[in-house]
Amino acid sequence: MSIKGKIVTLRAIEEADLPTLHRWGNDPDLWSMLGGWHFPTSLRQTQQWFERLAGDPLNQRFAIEVPGDGLVGTANLVDIDWKNKNAFHGMMIGDPNMRGRGVGVDVIMATMRYAFDELGLRRLDGSMIAYNEASTGVYCGKCGWKEEGRQRDWYFRGGRFWDRIMVGVTSDDYRALLAAKDYWQG
Ligand SMILES: CC(C)(COP(=O)(O)OP(=O)(O)OC[C@H]1O[C@@H](n2cnc3c(N)ncnc32)[C@H](O)[C@@H]1OP(=O)(O)O)[C@@H](O)C(=O)NCCC(=O)NCCS
Repeated sequence: MSIKGKIVTLRAIEEADLPTLHRWGNDPDLWSMLGGWHFPTSLRQTQQWFERLAGDPLNQRFAIEVPGDGLVGTANLVDIDWKNKNAFHGMMIGDPNMRGRGVGVDVIMATMRYAFDELGLRRLDGSMIAYNEASTGVYCGKCGWKEEGRQRDWYFRGGRFWDRIMVGVTSDDYRALLAAKDYWQG
């Protein structure tokens, strides 16, 4: 099964995706916008990461596919906590030419619909480096997420520390967003 947005399909990551994921995984511009970090990664390490995915049901990772463009990025629902009904969500669009076209909004809307209407989660968490204005813009500006706090000097990038912005969205926030303007209609 796959998760559908208005534009995107979120599907399982397949072995054929690995060369592209490996290329993105070694793109310094992309990684400067992401919270994680690693050293340069080989294709073999990417394959080993892929092989570990199947045995890790609380950490779900999806390929983002756009009709006509194929694989454009990845999204995740990780640290799924069934007791407290929350999870952490993150995403990246690997090809810069695919950014700014509404794909990010569609991925976040599809993830929220799936998390709240299918999984029955109560809230989603996210975080970003303070300079990632595209990320705060899409989550908090367009998709109903709220800034819930800042961890000072959490990230070290480019020779200095940057705050970590903590964001979150509840199922009520999602329903209020749809009540104001139903993304899924039209
Ligand atoms: C952040 C990211 C996911 C946004 O996805 P996107 O497809 O480019 O975003 P959209 O086209 O859906 O943009 C929707 C809104 O986000 C905001 N936004 C997007 N890019 C922006 C930018 N560079 N600066 C400020 N706001 C921006 C705007 O409000 C925009 O709405 P508008 O087009 O009506 O102005 C994408 O740019 C990306 O993957 N970047 C690299 C990796 C990354 O930063 N991931 C997030 C880590 S927390």
